[in-house]
Amino acid sequence: MTLETLTMPDNLYLLFCGTLLIVLMVCVVEAANVQQPGFNYDESKVPPYTLPDPLTLSDGAKVRDVRTWRQKRRPEIIRLFEQHVYGKLPGRSAGLRFETKSVDKKALDGKATRKEVTVYFTGKSDGPKIDILIYLPNDQSKPLPLFVGMNFFGNQSIHKDPGISLTKAWVQNSKEMGVVDNRATESSRGAHAARWQVERVIERGYALATIYYGDLDPDFDDNFKNGVHPLFYKEGQTKPAPDEWGAIGAWAWGLSRAMDYFETDREIDSKRVAVTGHSRLGKAALWAGALDERFALVISNESGEGGAALARRRFGETTERINTNFPHWFSTNFKQYNRREDELPVDQHMLIALIAPRPVYVASAAEDLWADPRGEFLGAKHAAPVYLLLNTDGMTADQMPGISQPIMSTIGYHIRPGKHDVTAYDWEQFITFADLHMKNRKR
Ligand code: GCU
Repeated sequence: MTLETLTMPDNLYLLFCGTLLIVLMVCVVEAANVQQPGFNYDESKVPPYTLPDPLTLSDGAKVRDVRTWRQKRRPEIIRLFEQHVYGKLPGRSAGLRFETKSVDKKALDGKATRKEVTVYFTGKSDGPKIDILIYLPNDQSKPLPLFVGMNFFGNQSIHKDPGISLTKAWVQNSKEMGVVDNRATESSRGAHAARWQVERVIERGYALATIYYGDLDPDFDDNFKNGVHPLFYKEGQTKPAPDEWGAIGAWAWGLSRAMDYFETDREIDSKRVAVTGHSRLGKAALWAGALDERFALVISNESGEGGAALARRRFGETTERINTNFPHWFSTNFKQYNRREDELPVDQHMLIALIAPRPVYVASAAEDLWADPRGEFLGAKHAAPVYLLLNTDGMTADQMPGISQPIMSTIGYHIRPGKHDVTAYDWEQFITFADLHMKNRKR
């Protein structure tokens, strides 16, 4: 078919294809988290700002010793994040019960043992729950250090292994991920395998556990009818109070419930558990690691706004934009800070400081400007005074490092080339960091 021979229907057909292509490209761009128009990506336009000092108490007194940090300032900062940002979380639910659903000692060609464990929050089999998928390397001495992180499309998405149970929960539709009518299909197996590197993690001597985040709260705004929130409503309550948890809080809470299980599994060393997460789940991993000191190490991959990136920089995503697009993620109180970032009593460096003295690793990607790589670096860097007070080496780099030059001090950091994603390179650094700071730790 040449241009001359195009008929009217052919023209319409081309127009249709062109429009479809543009729509698809817009979707891909949104999914890849590439910069959205209308936001600032110019470093010279970052407004001047003053960060709140993690080592000054609300009454103005300076924190000069470990005791004042532990007994006064740390609890104060936790309260500030609860009150103004993520909302308060409940504790472990009464009646929590674990059930091992399957064990296969010859998974992954005999290299690993696959376990599936369900945590029933109220003990009731028809009540809210999470399904934990765990791979344990077979050739290592037990108990094993472990990485735990949530996934976006169900446990079966992390590996092609046909023995993984397909999630029966609601999942966001995605052709690419094999989700149709909000249900995971067989073709969703291994759809996100590249983001998990299961074989490599096993090979380097770690166990790996994952949970589907939608088990805790499906990621859409339904005024908190589904998910785990209603379990904790008081008489007559229909949604979280303005200072109570949103979805990020629920995801963080779920990571702690997985930790409740790890403490009971003799093959897992619960004193050497690293919590990791990407993007929105990186925000949740940081919040979980900040609150729950049982996590020995915390990894944030491209967590951006509401994660490792400093909100006051307003570079890429802003507080207003995240609260508008994802009204269910944070507490209702957080919305008061739309376009008023400077009035926040905290910034994200203080979230990272709550993890001190435990090792924390922050990872960025050069093309992921939406998440503000420099803001993520600075979030990590400005947590260092607390790490130094607690007798660690803090962050050894003064400046943001170049591409692919990881920093491996107690606060670790890297920026790699490429887009918003979790890659094999990211995992290699996370594991090396865990080798340095957690693997040989005495229990
Ligand atoms: C959106 C959102 C980010 C988030 C990301 C993700 O891009 O604006 O804050 O981190 O989704 O979770 O992939």
